[in-house]
Amino acid sequence: MTTNILVTGGAGYIGTHTCIALIESGHTVVVADNLSNSKRESIEKIKRITNKEFPFYEIDISNKQAVETIFKNHRIDGVIHFAGLKAVGESVEKPSMYYENNLVSTLVLANSCLKFGINRFVFSSSATVYGENEVPFVETMDLLPSTNPYGETKAMCERILTDIAKANPSFSVSLLRYFNPIGAHESGLIGEVPNGIPNNLMPYITQVAKGMREYLSIFGNDYPTIDGTGVRDYIHVMDLAEGHVAAINFVTEGVHIYNLGTGQGTSVLQLVKAFEEANGVTIRYEIVDRRPGDIASCYANVYKARRELCWIAKRDVVTMCKDAWRFEKNYQHQVV
Ligand SMILES: NC(=O)c1ccc[n+]([C@@H]2O[C@H](COP(=O)([O-])OP(=O)(O)OC[C@H]3O[C@@H](n4cnc5c(N)ncnc54)[C@H](O)[C@@H]3O)[C@@H](O)[C@H]2O)c1
Repeated sequence: MTTNILVTGGAGYIGTHTCIALIESGHTVVVADNLSNSKRESIEKIKRITNKEFPFYEIDISNKQAVETIFKNHRIDGVIHFAGLKAVGESVEKPSMYYENNLVSTLVLANSCLKFGINRFVFSSSATVYGENEVPFVETMDLLPSTNPYGETKAMCERILTDIAKANPSFSVSLLRYFNPIGAHESGLIGEVPNGIPNNLMPYITQVAKGMREYLSIFGNDYPTIDGTGVRDYIHVMDLAEGHVAAINFVTEGVHIYNLGTGQGTSVLQLVKAFEEANGVTIRYEIVDRRPGDIASCYANVYKARRELCWIAKRDVVTMCKDAWRFEKNYQHQVV
């Protein structure tokens, strides 16, 4: 069934890929983004890839009036709420900015949904809410405190949405806990564009491969993992995008929590090697001290999403590396 989905943060990394997956599976989208961490050109690229037009609103989701205007102008069947600030280090330096942006936008959006009778809400959460639980992380685990304000905003938004759903039985909320999205759309037109020095591993690797950075710093090689470097569950961003389509299609009342990962852990060194082999390039790296707040291993138990959403990540690490590199090679970084 075709549904019209409001995608907040739809100009960003995961949002753009999800718009493509939604449109390709027959849904229509309305996109809203304040472009604080993205560019208008990514909207044009979605249109180019899908060959479909859709409305775009350059608004802040914390602005109640602006959000309500969208609900007045369009019949919206559900929302996927990506809009949020996501840089862990910046959240430690500017906690109030993170709490205000991430919490207020979620509250405004959820309240507007209730007011306009929109009952499907999908929220971008993160594996960071598990803290230092034992791997693999399962949805039933108690959440542990995060080491940074960003992670706290995700845990708080989960609680806010859970309480709202409890008080409003027809409201359906999916809390999607992402593991580590990497890669890019196979067209090479859209991908991850970090602002300044990348916080995440893959954009760092691709920028070293491109010659923009001299070497990759690997934070610690004395973790209790296969080779001492940190282990993460990397998931192709298009698989993650398809997970959102599955979640929006699965409408049942109440709160549903899903891990979106592959269930496979890959170490930093393993990812570097996979990238080199997949793309025939060499990545210079140096081992430096551990980074405060990093955990040794993080990977998902993925059975719940498989069972209930009939969704499973299909693309392997080699594909992730090839797609990330294809995008980076095509992308012209702005010189600041
Ligand atoms: N990328 C990851 O590794 C990762 C992992 C777990 C969770 N998440 C979450 O997924 C969501 C999307 O992440 P992403 O990687 O695509 O990030 P992104 O920064 O590329 O996209 C987020 C988008 O939201 C917009 N935005 C931010 N605040 C806004 C506001 N108040 N109003 C309107 N627009 C606003 C930004 O301009 C940006 O386009 C975020 O909520 C993030 O916390 C991301």
